[in-house]
Amino acid sequence: MDITIKKSTGLRGELEIPGDKSISHRAIMFGAISEGTTEITNFLQGADCLSTISCFQSMGVSIENRTDCVTIHGVGLHGLQAPAHSLDVGNSGTTTRLISGILAGQSFTSVINGDASIQKRPMKRIITPLLQMGANIRSIKGNDCAPLEICGGPLHGIHYSSPVSSAQVKSCVLLAGLYADSATLVTEPVLSRNHTELMLSGFGAQVTSEHTTAKIEPNPRLIGQKIAVPGDISSAAYWIAAALIIPNSEIVLKNVGINPTRDGILRVVQAMGGTILQENVHTVSGELVCDLIIRSSTLHGTVISGELIPTLIDEIPVIAVLACFADGETVIRDAQELKVKESNRIDTVAEGLLAMGADVTATDDGMIIRGGKPLHGAVIDSHLDHRIAMSFTVAGLMCDEPTTIQNADSVDISYPGFFDNLKRISCA
Ligand code: S3P
Repeated sequence: MDITIKKSTGLRGELEIPGDKSISHRAIMFGAISEGTTEITNFLQGADCLSTISCFQSMGVSIENRTDCVTIHGVGLHGLQAPAHSLDVGNSGTTTRLISGILAGQSFTSVINGDASIQKRPMKRIITPLLQMGANIRSIKGNDCAPLEICGGPLHGIHYSSPVSSAQVKSCVLLAGLYADSATLVTEPVLSRNHTELMLSGFGAQVTSEHTTAKIEPNPRLIGQKIAVPGDISSAAYWIAAALIIPNSEIVLKNVGINPTRDGILRVVQAMGGTILQENVHTVSGELVCDLIIRSSTLHGTVISGELIPTLIDEIPVIAVLACFADGETVIRDAQELKVKESNRIDTVAEGLLAMGADVTATDDGMIIRGGKPLHGAVIDSHLDHRIAMSFTVAGLMCDEPTTIQNADSVDISYPGFFDNLKRISCA
């Protein structure tokens, strides 16, 4: 489905941001391997999280998905059953990588497969540590991508130094560590999102963190929990960017997760001179949340690099759009991980921005954007990447001519109500 976006005259009002994708996945997975019942509210009903639900249902876990609450009847650490068919992870890298850690510890063989995008994403990053732990895992086509075959079995604890800062890799290894014979440690170059560490502790695992190292003890008794999922800051990011750049805007985003390992966009907006206020800061299910108030602002360029990158990796496409409307240059470095997301986001962001007339140069690990030049409407290929579709919707709101987003329904991966929410806050 293609969608046409017209110039906005302002955004006003209040939105409840849908549940965090990373936290929703983890709540299903940890609930499934816990004893007793787990109840999840504000669960993200996006296609990726629904893939996680169906994978665990295929392994004998009873999960009731009602819109107000997802209830999981956990089967315990060792209660999963061999799936009758290969597990379909759809478009979801988080499902693929985290579930692999769990499957490595099971006493059965399973195959994981997904869509064309998932079959191109790198899995060596999890195959390597899982092999070191003694798992039997292989890429069926021998290209280090899915489909993956995992013959689960006894695992050894390891101290893994990951070459990439990736919460998916860290979480995969920590989850395999639940089934190991001794403690498992993961050190990453820069700290990535820590939802696994926080939530697994809440379920009863012994997890500790020091600097960029997380450690887990094996064989805990995990007990079902009630989890209230915070709103996803990665989804809030589109409205943050849009309200900052569209004149005559003031919006309130309710209940947004601001875990410090995820809040890089807030720090970048402040560095660019944007007005963004936090109210009602509190903790829900171990995660920091608040309401955000955002007003149209005059922005200037900034440098985004180093330790900031993992805290905003999924927001870079929309930050690049934001930078087009800031005075001066914005430099994004150390973000080579963008190349292995749902699309190569260095290429797909640069391609879309160039089509709209932006002054942007793609680099090997990011991009340089010289802002202040108006963008014009264009036809944008979303490359079936939800974050590209939403980022260019924001860009389209600033253009005099209409913008067409091709395959805009890809937004359903992480934000099914995205276009309805846009209508709700658009001034008539
Ligand atoms: C995620 C981690 C990030 C992020 C992805 C979700 C997670 O990926 O890009 O959307 O839930 O752990 P990496 O861990 O590969 O950086």
